[in-house]
Amino acid sequence: MDIQICKHYGELSAKAAELVGEQIKQKTDSVLGLATGGTPEGMYAALVDQYKNKQLSFREIKTFNLDEYIGLPADHPLSYRVYMDEHLFNNVDISEKNVHLPDGNATDLAAECDRYEERLRHAGGIDLQVLGLGHNGHIGFNEPGTAFESSTHIVDLDEKTREANARYFEKKSAVPRQAITMGIQTILSARKVLVLVSGTDKAEAVRDMIYREMTTSFPATVLQKHPAVTVIADEEAATHLQ
Ligand code: F6R
Repeated sequence: MDIQICKHYGELSAKAAELVGEQIKQKTDSVLGLATGGTPEGMYAALVDQYKNKQLSFREIKTFNLDEYIGLPADHPLSYRVYMDEHLFNNVDISEKNVHLPDGNATDLAAECDRYEERLRHAGGIDLQVLGLGHNGHIGFNEPGTAFESSTHIVDLDEKTREANARYFEKKSAVPRQAITMGIQTILSARKVLVLVSGTDKAEAVRDMIYREMTTSFPATVLQKHPAVTVIADEEAATHLQ
């Protein structure tokens, strides 16, 4: 793993946008795997700036998001589709046909998982996957105990994850109980992986991701076996690394 430590969140976001921007410039039809959540917000803002300054174009870029809640309408303000529209898609020249998120309202959710994998295969696989890190080691919504061989599947969200995400909802009981997520094998198939970690509350998680023995009890440890992982952590998250 290539571990890069930044002074603060602003620097982390700029560095992440620089790496994603380089990927886009090198391969203008790259397939990007994207994450939602608090951590990548600054990276998306910096990518939008690069686009507005005419340094980047998303015209041929294809995106596949890691996950989507089950049962929230796609236009619900807290759906991951709306998050992506607001932070990136509405602000750059990406084509709607190139944007992919799992459909958490599909009538046949199991078939939707297979369809998502098929669309990903058809696009040629992920060139660069951006990940955040859950306090419990989840990547995507692959909670502790998920098989490393898993492909896109339906998950019951861990109570810790629902608590962490309750900050966005009016109350915890409003947080959906299930989601569709890319599997761990899906994530490992990406040619490159970029993990973003910010804040003291993630310090133990990032240490465990890097140093703990590989275990399904802490899914992010699986990244130790991926040949091209870059971790960008701010100093707060890196407290247990130095
Ligand atoms: C988001 C996702 C999650 C988050 C993780 C960290 O699409 O799949 O794994 O990346 O929960 O979330 P934040 O960045 O909000 O701490």
